Amino acid sequence: MIIGIVIVTSDSPSLEKIEVILEKDSSLIIERGQFVTIPKNEKIEVIGLISGIKKYNAYYETLEASAHEIASRDYHNIFPINEWENTIAEIKPLGELDIEKEVVSRVKYPVSPGSKVFRSSPHSIEVFLGLDKNGLHLGFLQANEVDIKLNISRLLRKHLAILAISGAGKSYAASVLLEEILQYGKLGVILIDPHGEYSNIFNTSEYKENIEVLSGSLISIGVPELSAWDISEFIPEMSVVQTRVLEGIITNIKKMNLGHYSILELIKQLEITEGVNPRTREAMVGWLLSLHRTYLFSPESNLDFQNLISPGKTVILDLSDLQSFRARRIQALYFLKSLYSLRIQNKIPPIVFMIEEAHQFCPESSRSVSKGIIETIAREGRKFYCSLCLISQRPVNLSVTALSQCNSNLILRIRNPYDLDFIGKTSEGIDRSILKMLPDLEVGEALIVGEGINYPIFFRIRARKHHGTSISPNLQQTAESYAKKWQFNNSVNFERISRSEDK
Ligand SMILES: Nc1ncnc2c1ncn2[C@@H]1O[C@H](COP(=O)(O)OP(=O)(O)O)[C@@H](O)[C@H]1O
Ligand SMILES: [Mg+2]
Repeated sequence: MIIGIVIVTSDSPSLEKIEVILEKDSSLIIERGQFVTIPKNEKIEVIGLISGIKKYNAYYETLEASAHEIASRDYHNIFPINEWENTIAEIKPLGELDIEKEVVSRVKYPVSPGSKVFRSSPHSIEVFLGLDKNGLHLGFLQANEVDIKLNISRLLRKHLAILAISGAGKSYAASVLLEEILQYGKLGVILIDPHGEYSNIFNTSEYKENIEVLSGSLISIGVPELSAWDISEFIPEMSVVQTRVLEGIITNIKKMNLGHYSILELIKQLEITEGVNPRTREAMVGWLLSLHRTYLFSPESNLDFQNLISPGKTVILDLSDLQSFRARRIQALYFLKSLYSLRIQNKIPPIVFMIEEAHQFCPESSRSVSKGIIETIAREGRKFYCSLCLISQRPVNLSVTALSQCNSNLILRIRNPYDLDFIGKTSEGIDRSILKMLPDLEVGEALIVGEGINYPIFFRIRARKHHGTSISPNLQQTAESYAKKWQFNNSVNFERISRSEDK
């Protein structure tokens, strides 16, 4: 169905702008953001986006008359003035599509005045945008009735960032993405969830097999598995010389064959080791004690990372029961580092690290123990099929190193001018006209830009398939898990003590 004809105005048709007079009845179905097609010949069509709509009526085109004069004229009975009204659509030409070869290129020459304009067919849009009918179904283009299905490799291989103000629908969009990754069924996912929101959403019987929720406070980091260099990552203040001192102490403890040992054992040995500068000793004892007081470290780890992740399995690390940012970051570092290392050794499947509130774990200007590993995965992860999905409401505060490696961005409503400015600078493919639309997006409306799609587009995130049950924290389960961990730690300690007593 023809919706209009290309007309001539002072600056159209050009490479930047095409003005179209719309058919009377089609003006009802035309809206901003719709894709249109202007065939150049049988093989090539120009694909454009309706960027503006305006009305025109020559009768009112007068600069001499005042409003009062126009209103007082009584020509309506003589002339069919209302019928002279026309609707003009402004179209931004995006590219040329070779229909046979399914190749997209830029527009090299303007379309001719008088060209017919059509609504783009779903197939043309899919080819033009590089959609994948077997891809991740994140939403739809309302105006053209096209499902937005993104190729999984293109979207995730070079990392993804989901950015928006709070309440715009980031977590909702992330859970739609997670549903799609689960449906695909071959990737591993670890989702770092500081607010514990996802465990409720995915608390349905359908996901029982594929989703495991772990509570941050119940995971023990096994001290004997850590080298001095690992420990120094938890204590950024520790110098190389001090780390060497710790290395010596750990070597000694291992020689003594104590089996499982805690941070307190390290402190004890540090205190009796000779030749350590008293100041160094004092500082190190303080740092180690503060690590111990996070209650995250135990004589033995209670997690087997290799068996934790399998193809199609998602682990939600619920950190909401850890009060301090430090403890949350320590646990995030432990997970990310352990899994990244297993991935490099090809012991676990390709994995996606989804990080909620990413600015807390990987801030640009403040300290965070988990920052280094996130930046490393951002820079090098793609070689090992480790993908990041960083979710944040404060892009300005997010590590530039990490964010700049996110080649695809899913952006929902953003209001803060600093964030807008920052996104304009860091995200390739976003021009000023797109930036201007971000503050007005509705909840669940998103812009996708970058590797994942050929051209930046606004679309609506689809409805989630599952809503889960919103459960209040289960006291019984928590108490039982805690008791198990407590018993475990104590039995380990007991074993060690009884063994050393035997000697
Ligand atoms: N695409 C969507 N469709 C329907 N409801 C949505 C959608 N996106 C968000 N919402 C609703 O809006 C609210 C805020 O969404 P949420 O994802 O928690 O925002 P954010 O994580 O950005 O703070 C929630 O109640 C959520 O259910
Ligand atoms: Mg959220």
